[in-house]
Formats: sequence, C-alpha cells, structure tokens
Amino acid sequence: MKGVRILLLVALASWNSVNADLEWWQTTSVYQIYPRSWKDSDGDGIGDLPGIESKLQHLVDSGIDTFWLSPIYESPMVDFGYDISNFTSIDPIFGTMDDFDNLVATAKSLGLKVIMDLVPNHSSDEHEWFVKSLAGTEPYSDYYVWHNGTELENGTITVPNNWISFFGGSAWTWSSARQAYYLHQYTEEQPDLNYRNEYVVQEMKDIIEFWLDRGIDGFRVDTIMTLVEDASFPDEPLSGTTDDSTDHDYLLHYYTEDQIETYEVVAEWRELLDDYAFKTDNVTRIMMMEAYSNLTMTLLYYDYGAHFPFNFRFIRSVDSSSTAQEVKELAIDAWLDNLPDNATADWVLGNHDNSRVASRYTPEQVDALNMINLLLPGVSVTYYGEEIGMEDESISWEDTVDPQACNQDEDSYESNSRDPARTPMQWDTTTSAGFSTNESTWLPVNSNYLTLNLAAQIDADVSHYKVFQDLTTLRKETVIQEGTVNVQLLSDNVICFSRELESSSEDAVFVLTNFANNTETVSLDVFENAPDSLVVYIASVNSTLTAGTAVSRSSVEVSAYAGLVLRTSTESSANVLISTATLTLCMAFLVSHQF
Ligand code: GLC
Ligand code: MG
Repeated sequence: MKGVRILLLVALASWNSVNADLEWWQTTSVYQIYPRSWKDSDGDGIGDLPGIESKLQHLVDSGIDTFWLSPIYESPMVDFGYDISNFTSIDPIFGTMDDFDNLVATAKSLGLKVIMDLVPNHSSDEHEWFVKSLAGTEPYSDYYVWHNGTELENGTITVPNNWISFFGGSAWTWSSARQAYYLHQYTEEQPDLNYRNEYVVQEMKDIIEFWLDRGIDGFRVDTIMTLVEDASFPDEPLSGTTDDSTDHDYLLHYYTEDQIETYEVVAEWRELLDDYAFKTDNVTRIMMMEAYSNLTMTLLYYDYGAHFPFNFRFIRSVDSSSTAQEVKELAIDAWLDNLPDNATADWVLGNHDNSRVASRYTPEQVDALNMINLLLPGVSVTYYGEEIGMEDESISWEDTVDPQACNQDEDSYESNSRDPARTPMQWDTTTSAGFSTNESTWLPVNSNYLTLNLAAQIDADVSHYKVFQDLTTLRKETVIQEGTVNVQLLSDNVICFSRELESSSEDAVFVLTNFANNTETVSLDVFENAPDSLVVYIASVNSTLTAGTAVSRSSVEVSAYAGLVLRTSTESSANVLISTATLTLCMAFLVSHQF
C-alpha cells in the first residue's frame, strides 16, 4: 500500500507542477471592460461598478482570468475618465469606494485578477495640483510642463514650438492666470505632468501603492510613450505624410515620445511592484504598457521592467487588405522573433481607441482572429464584446461625444471617432440590449443587438461565443500554456501555427486561419511531426468542416475566412479531465483513510 501511496503522490505532484515555472500573468487571458459601456445598474444609461460586479460571472463562464477596468476615477469626463481630477477616488457616475471594494472582493472570490488603468501622463485641468500650479502655489508650480513661450521680433509671445496634440492643433495652451503656456499632448483639459519634478514622480508612486493596498493585481499604463518630453523643446520635423498642419501625424514625434527618461520611470515602477510583492504575498503585480511606438521602442519597455507592452501589430501593422504573408510576417513573426529573451508575448485585437476587430476586418473573420489571439503563446487581451463578435455602430454627428471627433467638423468627424467601438455591451434582446433599463444610453446601442447578443449566442448550437469558450478552455491546457510555437504559411492565404510539447506529440494542436474570401485546400506536410490523420477540434462558425470531422494531413479544406483547430483526437482534453478526476478521487481516498 505504501508503494501505491508514493506513486500517487508523485503523480499528484507532477500534475500540480504543471506551470511550476510560469507565473499567473504569463498565460492569463485579459478582458478589457470599458466601464461606461458594460453594465448599468441604476438606470442612468451609463455603466457602473455595481453593474460590473453583477456580471462578473460572464467572465468566469467565458474562461477569462483577468479583467482590466478603463478609468473609474473622479473626472470631468472630457475624455471619458482619461482626464482625472482625483487619482484616488471613484467618480460618482461609477459608484463609491465601497462599490469598488465589493467588486474586488467578488472578483477575488471568483478567482479573477483585477487590473486598473493608470494614467500617469496627465491629469484633468480640474485636479487640485493643476489649480495650484496655475496659481503658482509651491510645491505645485512645477508639477506640469510650463513654458513662457517664444517672443517674436515684433514683441508678441507665441507658442514655444510646433508640437501638436493627438486630438489636433497646438499641444500648448496659454494660461492668462499664469502668463505662460502649458503642454497637453491630448485635450487642453489634460495638462501633461512634469516627470522631471521629483515630487510628481513620488505622487504617482503613492497612487500606485494606494491601489495596490486595495487589493488589485496590476496596472494597464496609459500612453506611456508621451510621459517625458525633451527638456529643450525643439521643433519636431515634418513627417511628409499629410499637409494638415493641425493633424498629429503632420510631425515625427522625436521629442515628445519614447524619451529614455520615460523608460527610467518605468524601471522605478517595476521596482516598486516587485518590492510590494516581496513585502506582502509574493504574488507578482503587473504592468502592461500602452505605447503606439515603433517595434524597437515598444519592445524596449520589456527591458525596462514592463511585464509586457501591448502588441498592437494586429491593429496598426496589418488590416483587412493584408495578405496572409503580411499578417504572418508583420503581426506574428515580428513580435515573436524580436521578443527579448524570456519575455512573455501578448496579443491584442482591439480596444476602446480603435475600430472593433469585426469591423476592421470582417465579421466572418472573428473566430479565426480569436483563435490566433487565444492560442498563440503568452497573454491574450480581449476587448469587451469581441467574445460575441460585436461590430462598430455608426454614430451620428449629433450623438458623437468623443473629444477626438468633436474637435473635427461634421464632414470629417467619422474617421476620428472612437464612439463606434464604445457602444453598450449586447447582453440580450431586452431594453437597451440588457445593458440598461433606460432606453436612452450614453452612446446608442448597436442596432444589430436583436440578432447579435450574448443570450442568443448561448442558446445557439454554434456561435462566436461558443467558439470563444472552446478556445479559452483549450487555452488552459499545458500544450497552449507551455508548448513551442511554429508558424507557417501553407498557401497564399492560409497561416497555420502548431503548439507542441516536446514530451508528447499526441497533444499537438494545429491552428489554421484563412485570410481570403474563398475556400483553400492546404497540406500540413511542412510540419514534420503532424500525424497523418487529425480531427477538427474547434471550427469557426463559417467553417464547412465541423468539430469532430476527421481530416487527412495532406489535404485540409479551410472555408473562406474560417479558422480550424486540429488535433490528433478529440479526446485529449477529456483524458486530462478523467485523469484529474481520478487523481482527486484517489487523493480523497488517501486522506479519508489517513495514509
Ligand atoms: C490613451 C487612451 C485614450 C485616451 C488617451 C489620453 O491612448 O487609451 O482613450 O484618450 O490615452 O489619456
Ligand atoms: Mg508627457
């Protein structure tokens, strides 16, 4: 009997040691909640914290491990929360600090990690720091980037240089109170903080600790690339890509983005996070960075301590017109092949600043893209609604609220508006798609909600949501968490990647995605280890081949825009479940018999 016991314990130990050297965040699936748009609990037409808490089970059901909340702090809402007037309080629109604590407690009880948005580049102009800075009160006078301006020959004072804000026009605004210009890389209500001032550096560290103390697991760091600017304020060179001198793209941002001092601040934050874990529970708190920088400068955040910078290659480097080869090279290989040693990859299809993936590509590609997002190595990031294939809604000029669009005129606002991707979550067919009891919501509900909603997709035999659930379930298997990856182009239009464990070729997974609007028949022969016959394990909703169908390695038919996950047999995950159950039973037996 003793021998049996030892055997069982060894088996149990090796089962438990799955992922022993990977930390929680390295394989986590992140879900971005845009709080205004996810769930409204009090009927004011704007989402809130009790609403989010009431729907957390949806994340569990979707196989999500971690959620990130876009800003919920006190804010005049000029940029919908990205203009913060108090970094350590909750805006009444979203609820109270008690609501926040309850949300975190419920999340913990469900095993979900919570990530907050940290917006260090700027505050609201209504923040007391700015009010005091404006008045020249110490020590706040230098908290923001002030400049006396440039004196012209005729004696008039003008802007310090040609820097342009992301939302259009000069990045400088004159303050008559202070008789100086202040810098704002976004709206004039979002003055840039001055990280050359040590007090500011310390304030932001205190804010980080404040939220860590409330039990959160890390931060998504907003617009990190603009944190510090060149202290000598040189003009930026023209990009030559547009004639519109008010457009942010008019200049190359050599002096307002990617400054080395920014990376040094990031390194200090990493030290703080590591110290915090060391002092408390040894559970890593993470930082994920938002930077729309070039590949080199984006990847450099890893070297300076970011757990990962967002991989925006599927948003910025390729689009629906890209060939499969371009997608492979520019969006997948460019990231995987250039990662620093031991860095964790991540995959992002969309967020609140970009057109939704179903609209940027086509709705037919949603499942195939989710397969890429959820089955490549590392972290997956899902924007709310992507699990059901939500689409952009066109928003009229009258209904437009995004400052980036309101800055434009009626003819040009649409190309700049982020509103279409921020419409309420489509839960079901009731009033306002189940988002709110109010028929009028802060942004209109997408008119397709009667057919495109979560409830309908739960009821349907086959749906984007069911594919998503199957993918997150598969994602939890060791082969996806730890397996090697091999990405190949199988034809002009089909990309295939394998995930394999060296120990067991039986678990190998092959993911095929067709980027063309026509069926392609491909062979897996480039994958030397591919077995002769395979089974469709997961199929996109538009695939002719359905789950359970046997296919031969030399000829696999991939429908237009479809995605397929192939394995040696459909039993792999069932086997894992059986062996887990067996082990648990044996364990219970051992414990109850006090071996
Ligand atoms: C980031 C946010 C965006 C916001 C901007 C200014 O890019 O994602 O929504 O407008 O920063 O804070
Ligand atoms: Mg800045």
